[in-house]
Amino acid sequence: MLVKLTKDRIRKGMFIESVACPSKEFAKRRFILTSDRDLAAIARSSASEVLINVALGLDAEGRAPETRPSARRVPQSSGSGANAAEVQKVRNDLDQTRQALKSRLTDIVAGGPLDMDDLSSVAGSNARTWKDSAVIALEVTRLKSKDETTYVHSLAVSGMMTLLGNALDMDDEAVSLLGVAGLLHDIGKLLIPTEILNKPGDLTAQERDVIRGHPEAGYQLLKTYPSVPPLALDICRLHHEVLDGSGYPLGLKKRALSLPVRLSTVCDVFEALTSVRPYKRPWTSSEALKWMFARPQLFDRKMVLRLGSVLVDSPIT
Ligand SMILES: [Fe+2]
Repeated sequence: MLVKLTKDRIRKGMFIESVACPSKEFAKRRFILTSDRDLAAIARSSASEVLINVALGLDAEGRAPETRPSARRVPQSSGSGANAAEVQKVRNDLDQTRQALKSRLTDIVAGGPLDMDDLSSVAGSNARTWKDSAVIALEVTRLKSKDETTYVHSLAVSGMMTLLGNALDMDDEAVSLLGVAGLLHDIGKLLIPTEILNKPGDLTAQERDVIRGHPEAGYQLLKTYPSVPPLALDICRLHHEVLDGSGYPLGLKKRALSLPVRLSTVCDVFEALTSVRPYKRPWTSSEALKWMFARPQLFDRKMVLRLGSVLVDSPIT
């Protein structure tokens, strides 16, 4: 879990993820703060805030990870206490948006119309939910029924993409486009026979190829609609590409992957890792962020850090 602190609250034993200042002294350094020299250097720096990782060091109150109560920031799905009403509201809002998305995507897959203004409106209401209640929305969307997985995953990825776009100071138009691209990015999955998509056991090599074909299949479908912007086509086709070229379908490397495409990959992988799946224990947000941050050959580290700070900074207590 990443937490932003003003630099006067930094103390030895904290794990420093980043110090936002131009000084080369802290560039690309992640470290456990153990020396008076480093502490003084942070105090002298032009940074006003420092990002710490409380999974790896002391938290804001000076407690070590193993001594902290493992308090969850958000009530479980039933909702309780002071947050129950808000959890229920988020659940209702996301349910409505999911139904709207399902009807739009089902129409498109059946060869019906694709109305960009209408999709922007669906993406906009989803983005508002995530802006107001990101951590609750994340918790609510972690659990997916088999039949709704693609829709709920797409809502969550779209919401996170808009949060991350805003955190990176993109303008409103660009953020809105990210939201629509997130809604559409996995449309190719809806072209996969459900007996393969929802198969509970191991997949054959051929079935795996069918699933890995979903970015290209979605791209080929969306391409038939002239109103779909190139960026949404790119994100649909390239959201499983990674920086070292080991992704699919094209095996592109970092220099060929635009910032919005890299952003979509980070949100897509984070969502998948934190989802509740029958075959794995769901990862916490901090576990997923830590795993991704440790793989700079695959994921844009700046995006991973920003996503962590956005989720941590959400107005939920
Ligand atoms: Fe995908």
